Amino acid sequence: MKQILHVTSSPRGDQSNSTRLGSRIVELLLTQFPGSEVSINDTVKKNYIHLNEIHPVAYRLADTEHTPEQKDTLYSSDQAVKELLAAEIIVISVPMYNFNIPSALKAWIDHIVRAGKTFSYQTGRPEGLLKGKKVYLAIASNGVYSDGPMKPFDFGEPYLRFILEFMGITDITTYRIEGAGIPGLMESALAAGLESVAV
Ligand SMILES: Cc1cc2nc3c(=O)[nH]c(=O)nc-3n(C[C@H](O)[C@H](O)[C@H](O)COP(=O)(O)O)c2cc1C
Repeated sequence: MKQILHVTSSPRGDQSNSTRLGSRIVELLLTQFPGSEVSINDTVKKNYIHLNEIHPVAYRLADTEHTPEQKDTLYSSDQAVKELLAAEIIVISVPMYNFNIPSALKAWIDHIVRAGKTFSYQTGRPEGLLKGKKVYLAIASNGVYSDGPMKPFDFGEPYLRFILEFMGITDITTYRIEGAGIPGLMESALAAGLESVAV
């Protein structure tokens, strides 16, 4: 039995390939770990605010030092960190937007990458505090980026791997639904992506 967190970042609901791919991963995880608890964080609906003038100051303080205003501002961030710390397996559904991740997902990242909570500089070098977690990336794109001439232009997967490793998560597996906009591939892209999942 595992605590599973599914983070989604597409506004397309049931039509979203990245959400469908992530849901397929969750579905297979549930057969492997029956009775697991799944929580969903829809970062589009959650609409995390851009960091404002309060965040950088408050992020540097201990929880006990926060003013009521800072506490209020950090509420969404604190909740997101708590949810992440509780998760043993995290499935992140990622639509490719302009060769990168969507801003809704980046906003979530800006709320969870926090010194003293998900990483530490205490030894003078950054150290990830999220140990022993497994991440699945479910990436959807119209083009093909897993290999071939467009591979160098996928800035999303390398960034996600880096920032997750920065927080201590090293066990990362990627699945893709790709080529969904390319004739000859688009007809089978969804089925091929869903069938590729083996957890
Ligand atoms: C604003 C926007 C930017 C996009 N940029 C790219 C891109 O750079 N490369 C690509 O292959 N597809 C791009 N697409 C297509 C999406 O990646 C594709 O539709 C994918 O299925 C979206 O994920 P979703 O189905 O989970 O919403 C873009 C789509 C939108 C709406």
